[in-house]
Amino acid sequence: MKTAIITGVTGQDGSYLAELLLKKGYKVYGMIRRASTSNTSRIDHLTDNPNFIIRKGDVTDRSSIEHILLEAEPCEFYNLAAQSFVPESWTNPVYTSEVTGIGVLKCLEAVRYYQEHTGRKIKFYQAGSSEQFGKALEVPQNENTPFYPRSPYGVAKVFGYHMTRNYRESYNMYALTGILFNHESPRRGLEFVTRKITHTLARIANGEETILELGNLEARRDWGYAKDYVKAMWMMLQQEEPKDYVIATGETHSVREFVEKAAEYAGLGKIKWKGKGTNEKGYDENNKLIVKINKKYYRPAEVDLLLGDPSRAKKELGWKPKTSFDELVKIMVKADMELIKLKK
Ligand code: NAP
Ligand code: GDD
Repeated sequence: MKTAIITGVTGQDGSYLAELLLKKGYKVYGMIRRASTSNTSRIDHLTDNPNFIIRKGDVTDRSSIEHILLEAEPCEFYNLAAQSFVPESWTNPVYTSEVTGIGVLKCLEAVRYYQEHTGRKIKFYQAGSSEQFGKALEVPQNENTPFYPRSPYGVAKVFGYHMTRNYRESYNMYALTGILFNHESPRRGLEFVTRKITHTLARIANGEETILELGNLEARRDWGYAKDYVKAMWMMLQQEEPKDYVIATGETHSVREFVEKAAEYAGLGKIKWKGKGTNEKGYDENNKLIVKINKKYYRPAEVDLLLGDPSRAKKELGWKPKTSFDELVKIMVKADMELIKLKK
Protein backbone atom coordinates (compact mmCIF):
# COMPACT_ATOMS: atom_id res chain seq x y z
CA MET A 1 0.00 0.00 0.00
CA LYS A 2 1.39 3.41 -1.00
CA THR A 3 1.37 6.18 1.59
CA ALA A 4 1.19 9.93 0.90
CA ILE A 5 1.33 13.02 3.06
CA ILE A 6 -0.77 16.02 2.05
CA THR A 7 -0.22 19.42 3.65
CA GLY A 8 -3.14 21.78 3.11
CA VAL A 9 -5.55 18.83 3.14
CA THR A 10 -8.41 20.99 4.45
CA GLY A 11 -8.23 23.23 1.36
CA GLN A 12 -9.99 22.92 -1.99
CA ASP A 13 -7.21 20.93 -3.69
CA GLY A 14 -6.17 18.98 -0.60
CA SER A 15 -9.67 17.57 -0.18
CA TYR A 16 -9.97 16.51 -3.85
CA LEU A 17 -6.45 15.06 -3.84
CA ALA A 18 -7.16 13.06 -0.67
CA GLU A 19 -10.29 11.63 -2.33
CA LEU A 20 -8.33 10.70 -5.45
CA LEU A 21 -5.48 8.99 -3.57
CA LEU A 22 -7.84 7.09 -1.26
CA LYS A 23 -9.72 5.85 -4.33
CA LYS A 24 -6.41 4.67 -5.74
CA GLY A 25 -5.79 2.63 -2.57
CA TYR A 26 -3.31 4.95 -0.84
CA LYS A 27 -3.02 5.50 2.86
CA VAL A 28 -3.25 9.28 3.24
CA TYR A 29 -1.86 11.38 6.09
CA GLY A 30 -3.41 14.83 6.03
CA MET A 31 -1.74 17.64 7.94
CA ILE A 32 -4.19 20.08 9.48
CA ARG A 33 -3.54 23.09 11.64
CA ARG A 34 -5.13 23.82 14.92
CA ALA A 35 -8.06 26.23 14.66
CA SER A 36 -10.39 27.65 17.27
CA THR A 37 -13.36 26.76 15.05
CA SER A 38 -13.65 23.76 12.76
CA ASN A 39 -11.65 23.96 9.52
CA THR A 40 -12.41 20.43 8.28
CA SER A 41 -15.71 20.87 6.40
CA ARG A 42 -14.14 19.83 3.07
CA ILE A 43 -12.79 16.55 4.48
CA ASP A 44 -15.39 15.58 7.10
CA HIS A 45 -16.89 13.04 4.67
CA LEU A 46 -13.51 11.21 4.57
CA THR A 47 -12.81 10.86 8.26
CA ASP A 48 -14.53 7.46 8.60
CA ASN A 49 -12.09 5.96 6.12
CA PRO A 50 -9.45 4.01 8.11
CA ASN A 51 -6.84 4.86 5.46
CA PHE A 52 -7.30 8.58 6.05
CA ILE A 53 -5.28 9.79 9.00
CA ILE A 54 -5.28 13.33 10.27
CA ARG A 55 -2.32 14.77 12.13
CA LYS A 56 -1.88 18.25 13.52
CA GLY A 57 0.97 20.30 12.12
CA ASP A 58 2.03 23.50 10.45
CA VAL A 59 4.48 24.07 7.61
CA THR A 60 6.11 26.86 9.58
CA ASP A 61 7.04 24.31 12.28
CA ARG A 62 9.60 21.92 10.86
CA SER A 63 9.39 19.56 13.85
CA SER A 64 5.70 18.94 13.16
CA ILE A 65 6.53 17.95 9.56
CA GLU A 66 9.26 15.60 10.81
CA HIS A 67 6.92 13.88 13.27
CA ILE A 68 4.41 13.15 10.51
CA LEU A 69 7.17 11.89 8.19
CA LEU A 70 8.48 9.48 10.85
CA GLU A 71 5.04 8.08 11.55
CA ALA A 72 3.76 7.91 7.96
CA GLU A 73 6.90 6.69 6.14
CA PRO A 74 5.41 8.02 2.89
CA CYS A 75 6.53 7.52 -0.69
CA GLU A 76 4.86 10.75 -1.84
CA PHE A 77 4.64 14.19 -0.22
CA TYR A 78 2.28 16.83 -1.62
CA ASN A 79 2.92 20.32 -0.25
CA LEU A 80 -0.33 22.19 -0.87
CA ALA A 81 -0.28 24.34 2.27
CA ALA A 82 -0.20 28.07 1.64
CA GLN A 83 -1.66 31.43 2.51
CA SER A 84 -3.23 31.30 -0.94
CA PHE A 85 -5.33 34.47 -1.20
CA VAL A 86 -3.41 37.06 -3.22
CA PRO A 87 -4.92 40.27 -1.67
CA GLU A 88 -4.16 38.97 1.83
CA SER A 89 -0.50 38.77 0.82
CA TRP A 90 -0.30 42.59 0.73
CA THR A 91 -1.95 42.83 4.14
CA ASN A 92 0.31 40.15 5.64
CA PRO A 93 3.41 39.98 3.41
CA VAL A 94 5.80 38.59 6.01
CA TYR A 95 3.35 35.94 7.19
CA THR A 96 2.60 34.98 3.56
CA SER A 97 6.33 34.65 2.85
CA GLU A 98 6.81 32.49 5.93
CA VAL A 99 4.00 30.07 5.07
CA THR A 100 3.94 30.11 1.26
CA GLY A 101 7.71 30.55 0.78
CA ILE A 102 9.78 29.42 3.78
CA GLY A 103 7.18 26.71 4.50
CA VAL A 104 8.28 25.01 1.27
CA LEU A 105 11.90 25.09 2.39
CA LYS A 106 10.96 23.59 5.76
CA CYS A 107 9.17 20.72 4.00
CA LEU A 108 12.14 20.16 1.67
CA GLU A 109 14.60 20.19 4.56
CA ALA A 110 12.49 17.78 6.60
CA VAL A 111 12.18 15.42 3.62
CA ARG A 112 15.92 15.64 2.85
CA TYR A 113 16.84 14.93 6.48
CA TYR A 114 14.36 12.03 6.64
CA GLN A 115 15.72 10.51 3.41
CA GLU A 116 19.34 10.80 4.55
CA HIS A 117 18.64 9.16 7.91
CA THR A 118 16.29 6.39 6.82
CA GLY A 119 17.59 5.65 3.32
CA ARG A 120 13.99 5.83 2.06
CA LYS A 121 13.03 7.84 -1.00
CA ILE A 122 10.14 10.29 -1.18
CA LYS A 123 8.68 12.00 -4.24
CA PHE A 124 7.97 15.65 -3.41
CA TYR A 125 5.31 17.80 -5.09
CA GLN A 126 5.31 21.59 -4.67
CA ALA A 127 2.11 23.51 -5.46
CA GLY A 128 3.41 26.22 -7.76
CA SER A 129 1.23 28.88 -9.36
CA SER A 130 0.64 30.86 -12.54
CA GLU A 131 0.97 33.89 -10.23
CA GLN A 132 4.72 33.25 -10.66
CA PHE A 133 4.31 34.63 -14.23
CA GLY A 134 2.49 37.71 -12.91
CA LYS A 135 3.01 40.52 -15.41
CA ALA A 136 3.48 37.86 -18.03
CA LEU A 137 6.49 38.33 -20.28
CA GLU A 138 5.00 36.16 -23.02
CA VAL A 139 1.62 34.73 -24.02
CA PRO A 140 0.90 31.88 -23.58
CA GLN A 141 3.05 30.94 -20.59
CA ASN A 142 4.94 27.65 -20.53
CA GLU A 143 7.66 26.03 -18.39
CA ASN A 144 10.34 28.30 -19.94
CA THR A 145 8.52 31.62 -19.52
CA PRO A 146 10.44 33.94 -17.15
CA PHE A 147 8.77 34.84 -13.88
CA TYR A 148 7.59 38.37 -13.01
CA PRO A 149 5.51 37.99 -9.82
CA ARG A 150 3.21 40.90 -8.92
CA SER A 151 2.39 40.24 -5.26
CA PRO A 152 4.09 38.99 -2.10
CA TYR A 153 2.19 35.73 -2.73
CA GLY A 154 3.68 35.42 -6.24
CA VAL A 155 7.17 36.18 -4.93
CA ALA A 156 6.81 33.51 -2.23
CA LYS A 157 5.74 30.95 -4.86
CA VAL A 158 8.77 31.82 -7.02
CA PHE A 159 10.96 31.23 -3.95
CA GLY A 160 9.30 27.82 -3.41
CA TYR A 161 9.79 26.94 -7.07
CA HIS A 162 13.51 27.78 -7.09
CA MET A 163 14.09 26.02 -3.76
CA THR A 164 12.39 22.89 -5.05
CA ARG A 165 14.52 22.95 -8.23
CA ASN A 166 17.67 23.53 -6.17
CA TYR A 167 16.94 20.59 -3.87
CA ARG A 168 16.39 18.43 -6.94
CA GLU A 169 19.69 19.53 -8.48
CA SER A 170 21.79 19.72 -5.29
CA TYR A 171 20.64 16.59 -3.48
CA ASN A 172 19.34 14.51 -6.36
CA MET A 173 15.91 14.60 -4.75
CA TYR A 174 12.76 13.66 -6.63
CA ALA A 175 11.18 17.08 -6.24
CA LEU A 176 9.14 19.06 -8.73
CA THR A 177 6.76 21.98 -9.03
CA GLY A 178 3.38 21.85 -10.73
CA ILE A 179 2.78 25.36 -12.09
CA LEU A 180 -1.01 25.33 -11.93
CA PHE A 181 -3.21 27.99 -13.44
CA ASN A 182 -6.41 29.00 -11.61
CA HIS A 183 -8.67 26.07 -10.85
CA GLU A 184 -12.05 26.29 -9.24
CA SER A 185 -14.90 24.18 -7.91
CA PRO A 186 -17.87 24.32 -5.54
CA ARG A 187 -15.24 23.85 -2.77
CA ARG A 188 -13.44 27.08 -3.69
CA GLY A 189 -13.14 29.59 -0.84
CA LEU A 190 -15.84 32.29 -0.92
CA GLU A 191 -13.41 35.20 -1.32
CA PHE A 192 -11.96 34.01 -4.66
CA VAL A 193 -13.67 35.71 -7.57
CA THR A 194 -15.36 32.70 -9.23
CA ARG A 195 -16.96 31.38 -6.07
CA LYS A 196 -17.83 34.89 -4.89
CA ILE A 197 -19.69 35.35 -8.18
CA THR A 198 -21.55 32.02 -8.20
CA HIS A 199 -22.44 32.16 -4.51
CA THR A 200 -23.66 35.77 -4.59
CA LEU A 201 -25.64 35.33 -7.83
CA ALA A 202 -27.26 32.20 -6.40
CA ARG A 203 -28.35 34.26 -3.39
CA ILE A 204 -29.74 36.99 -5.66
CA ALA A 205 -31.56 34.40 -7.79
CA ASN A 206 -33.10 33.05 -4.58
CA GLY A 207 -34.53 36.43 -3.73
CA GLU A 208 -31.98 37.62 -1.21
CA GLU A 209 -31.49 41.40 -1.31
CA THR A 210 -27.84 41.61 -2.11
CA ILE A 211 -25.57 43.02 -4.79
CA LEU A 212 -22.44 41.45 -6.23
CA GLU A 213 -19.58 43.91 -5.65
CA LEU A 214 -16.46 43.29 -7.71
CA GLY A 215 -13.15 44.91 -8.63
CA ASN A 216 -11.43 44.61 -12.00
CA LEU A 217 -13.83 43.03 -14.51
CA GLU A 218 -11.25 42.95 -17.30
CA ALA A 219 -8.68 40.67 -15.61
CA ARG A 220 -8.29 37.47 -17.62
CA ARG A 221 -7.58 34.04 -16.20
CA ASP A 222 -7.11 30.53 -17.52
CA TRP A 223 -9.73 28.79 -15.35
CA GLY A 224 -9.94 25.00 -15.01
CA TYR A 225 -11.72 22.53 -12.75
CA ALA A 226 -9.90 21.55 -9.53
CA LYS A 227 -10.84 17.86 -9.83
CA ASP A 228 -9.04 17.66 -13.19
CA TYR A 229 -6.02 19.45 -11.77
CA VAL A 230 -5.36 17.25 -8.72
CA LYS A 231 -5.15 14.30 -11.11
CA ALA A 232 -2.29 16.10 -12.87
CA MET A 233 -0.48 16.46 -9.51
CA TRP A 234 -0.59 12.70 -9.02
CA MET A 235 0.43 12.00 -12.64
CA MET A 236 3.52 14.20 -12.25
CA LEU A 237 4.76 12.06 -9.36
CA GLN A 238 4.30 8.82 -11.35
CA GLN A 239 6.99 9.81 -13.89
CA GLU A 240 10.52 8.33 -13.91
CA GLU A 241 12.21 11.75 -13.93
CA PRO A 242 11.08 14.72 -11.85
CA LYS A 243 10.20 17.72 -14.05
CA ASP A 244 8.14 20.87 -13.63
CA TYR A 245 4.86 21.08 -15.53
CA VAL A 246 2.41 23.82 -16.48
CA ILE A 247 -1.20 22.73 -15.93
CA ALA A 248 -3.80 24.88 -17.68
CA THR A 249 -6.68 24.72 -20.13
CA GLY A 250 -5.11 26.89 -22.84
CA GLU A 251 -8.14 29.25 -22.82
CA THR A 252 -8.49 32.61 -21.16
CA HIS A 253 -11.67 34.43 -20.05
CA SER A 254 -12.33 37.73 -18.32
CA VAL A 255 -14.02 38.17 -14.94
CA ARG A 256 -16.80 39.94 -16.89
CA GLU A 257 -17.38 36.83 -19.05
CA PHE A 258 -17.52 34.68 -15.91
CA VAL A 259 -20.18 36.95 -14.35
CA GLU A 260 -22.25 37.01 -17.55
CA LYS A 261 -22.19 33.24 -17.96
CA ALA A 262 -22.94 32.64 -14.27
CA ALA A 263 -25.90 35.08 -14.35
CA GLU A 264 -27.41 33.19 -17.27
CA TYR A 265 -27.03 29.84 -15.51
CA ALA A 266 -28.54 31.33 -12.35
CA GLY A 267 -31.63 32.33 -14.36
CA LEU A 268 -30.97 36.08 -14.17
CA GLY A 269 -30.76 36.47 -17.95
CA LYS A 270 -28.31 38.48 -20.02
CA ILE A 271 -26.64 41.22 -17.94
CA LYS A 272 -26.99 44.77 -19.27
CA TRP A 273 -23.96 46.92 -18.45
CA LYS A 274 -24.29 50.68 -17.97
CA GLY A 275 -21.66 53.28 -17.09
CA LYS A 276 -17.86 53.16 -17.16
CA GLY A 277 -14.97 52.35 -14.83
CA THR A 278 -15.86 52.36 -11.16
CA ASN A 279 -19.34 53.68 -12.06
CA GLU A 280 -20.19 50.67 -14.18
CA LYS A 281 -23.27 48.70 -13.10
CA GLY A 282 -24.84 45.44 -14.20
CA TYR A 283 -28.63 44.87 -14.41
CA ASP A 284 -30.52 41.61 -14.79
CA GLU A 285 -33.25 40.95 -17.37
CA ASN A 286 -35.80 42.69 -15.10
CA ASN A 287 -33.55 45.78 -14.87
CA LYS A 288 -32.71 45.04 -11.25
CA LEU A 289 -29.24 46.19 -10.17
CA ILE A 290 -27.17 43.07 -9.43
CA VAL A 291 -23.51 44.02 -10.02
CA LYS A 292 -21.51 47.08 -9.07
CA ILE A 293 -17.86 47.99 -8.75
CA ASN A 294 -16.19 48.58 -5.42
CA LYS A 295 -12.71 50.10 -5.54
CA LYS A 296 -11.65 48.13 -2.48
CA TYR A 297 -11.45 44.98 -4.63
CA TYR A 298 -8.83 46.50 -6.94
CA ARG A 299 -5.29 45.33 -6.23
CA PRO A 300 -2.15 47.45 -5.73
CA ALA A 301 -0.68 45.58 -8.72
CA GLU A 302 -2.79 43.48 -11.07
CA VAL A 303 -2.05 40.35 -13.08
CA ASP A 304 -3.94 41.27 -16.26
CA LEU A 305 -3.69 38.18 -18.39
CA LEU A 306 -2.91 34.55 -17.65
CA LEU A 307 -3.01 31.94 -20.38
CA GLY A 308 -1.19 28.65 -19.97
CA ASP A 309 0.33 26.33 -22.51
CA PRO A 310 -0.05 22.77 -21.14
CA SER A 311 1.66 21.09 -24.14
CA ARG A 312 4.36 19.41 -22.05
CA ALA A 313 1.80 17.91 -19.66
CA LYS A 314 -0.29 16.71 -22.61
CA LYS A 315 2.68 15.11 -24.34
CA GLU A 316 4.56 13.63 -21.39
CA LEU A 317 1.84 12.93 -18.80
CA GLY A 318 -1.03 12.28 -21.17
CA TRP A 319 -3.01 14.83 -19.12
CA LYS A 320 -5.66 17.12 -20.54
CA PRO A 321 -8.45 19.11 -18.94
CA LYS A 322 -11.83 17.37 -19.14
CA THR A 323 -14.07 20.23 -18.05
CA SER A 324 -14.74 23.25 -20.28
CA PHE A 325 -15.17 26.82 -19.05
CA ASP A 326 -18.95 26.64 -19.62
CA GLU A 327 -19.21 23.34 -17.74
CA LEU A 328 -17.17 24.71 -14.85
CA VAL A 329 -19.42 27.76 -14.46
CA LYS A 330 -22.48 25.53 -14.69
CA ILE A 331 -21.16 23.10 -12.03
CA MET A 332 -20.40 25.96 -9.64
CA VAL A 333 -23.70 27.82 -10.15
CA LYS A 334 -25.71 24.62 -9.75
CA ALA A 335 -23.89 23.70 -6.52
CA ASP A 336 -24.42 27.17 -5.05
CA MET A 337 -28.10 27.28 -6.08
CA GLU A 338 -28.61 23.98 -4.23
CA LEU A 339 -26.63 25.18 -1.22
CA ILE A 340 -28.65 28.39 -0.91
CA LYS A 341 -31.96 26.49 -1.21
CA LEU A 342 -30.82 24.10 1.55
CA LYS A 343 -29.98 27.03 3.83
CA LYS A 344 -33.39 28.64 3.31
P1 NAP B 1 -6.79 26.75 -0.14
O1 NAP B 1 -8.16 26.23 -0.38
O2 NAP B 1 -6.61 28.14 0.32
O3 NAP B 1 -6.07 25.76 0.88
C1 NAP B 1 -4.85 26.09 1.51
C2 NAP B 1 -4.56 25.04 2.55
O4 NAP B 1 -3.33 25.38 3.22
C3 NAP B 1 -5.63 24.93 3.65
O5 NAP B 1 -5.77 23.57 3.98
C4 NAP B 1 -5.00 25.69 4.81
O6 NAP B 1 -5.48 25.29 6.08
C5 NAP B 1 -3.57 25.26 4.63
N1 NAP B 1 -2.60 26.09 5.36
C6 NAP B 1 -2.52 27.43 5.40
N2 NAP B 1 -1.49 27.81 6.16
C7 NAP B 1 -0.92 26.69 6.66
C8 NAP B 1 0.16 26.42 7.52
N3 NAP B 1 0.89 27.41 8.06
N4 NAP B 1 0.48 25.13 7.81
C9 NAP B 1 -0.24 24.12 7.28
N5 NAP B 1 -1.32 24.31 6.47
C10 NAP B 1 -1.63 25.58 6.16
O7 NAP B 1 -5.91 26.60 -1.48
P2 NAP B 1 -6.14 25.66 -2.75
O8 NAP B 1 -6.90 26.41 -3.76
O9 NAP B 1 -6.57 24.32 -2.30
O10 NAP B 1 -4.65 25.56 -3.30
C11 NAP B 1 -3.74 24.55 -2.86
C12 NAP B 1 -2.33 24.99 -3.15
O11 NAP B 1 -2.18 25.25 -4.55
C13 NAP B 1 -1.91 26.27 -2.46
O12 NAP B 1 -0.53 26.17 -2.19
C14 NAP B 1 -2.14 27.35 -3.50
O13 NAP B 1 -1.30 28.46 -3.26
C15 NAP B 1 -1.75 26.60 -4.75
N6 NAP B 1 -2.40 27.02 -6.00
C16 NAP B 1 -3.75 27.11 -6.08
C17 NAP B 1 -4.33 27.44 -7.29
C18 NAP B 1 -5.82 27.54 -7.43
O14 NAP B 1 -6.28 28.13 -8.44
N7 NAP B 1 -6.61 26.97 -6.54
C19 NAP B 1 -3.53 27.68 -8.42
C20 NAP B 1 -2.14 27.57 -8.28
C21 NAP B 1 -1.60 27.22 -7.07
P3 NAP B 1 -6.81 25.96 6.75
O15 NAP B 1 -7.97 25.22 6.15
O16 NAP B 1 -6.61 25.68 8.18
O17 NAP B 1 -6.79 27.41 6.39
N1 GDD C 1 -10.95 37.83 -5.23
C1 GDD C 1 -11.50 38.76 -6.03
N2 GDD C 1 -12.60 39.44 -5.58
N3 GDD C 1 -10.97 38.98 -7.25
C2 GDD C 1 -11.56 39.89 -8.05
C3 GDD C 1 -12.68 40.61 -7.65
C4 GDD C 1 -13.23 40.38 -6.35
O1 GDD C 1 -14.20 40.98 -5.92
N4 GDD C 1 -13.05 41.42 -8.67
C5 GDD C 1 -12.20 41.22 -9.66
N5 GDD C 1 -11.27 40.29 -9.30
C6 GDD C 1 -10.14 39.82 -10.10
C7 GDD C 1 -8.80 39.96 -9.40
O2 GDD C 1 -8.33 41.31 -9.49
C8 GDD C 1 -7.97 38.95 -10.20
O3 GDD C 1 -7.44 39.58 -11.34
C9 GDD C 1 -8.98 37.90 -10.64
O4 GDD C 1 -10.28 38.44 -10.35
C10 GDD C 1 -8.85 36.55 -9.95
O5 GDD C 1 -8.80 36.75 -8.55
P1 GDD C 1 -8.88 35.52 -7.51
O6 GDD C 1 -10.05 34.67 -7.81
O7 GDD C 1 -8.77 36.10 -6.16
O8 GDD C 1 -7.62 34.62 -7.89
P2 GDD C 1 -6.10 34.96 -8.22
O9 GDD C 1 -5.93 34.80 -9.70
O10 GDD C 1 -5.67 36.23 -7.61
O11 GDD C 1 -5.32 33.81 -7.44
C11 GDD C 1 -5.76 32.46 -7.48
O12 GDD C 1 -5.14 31.79 -8.56
C12 GDD C 1 -3.72 31.66 -8.44
C13 GDD C 1 -3.23 30.96 -9.71
O13 GDD C 1 -3.07 31.89 -10.74
C14 GDD C 1 -5.43 31.83 -6.14
O14 GDD C 1 -6.00 30.54 -6.08
C15 GDD C 1 -3.93 31.66 -5.98
O15 GDD C 1 -3.65 30.93 -4.77
C16 GDD C 1 -3.40 30.90 -7.18
O16 GDD C 1 -2.00 30.71 -7.08
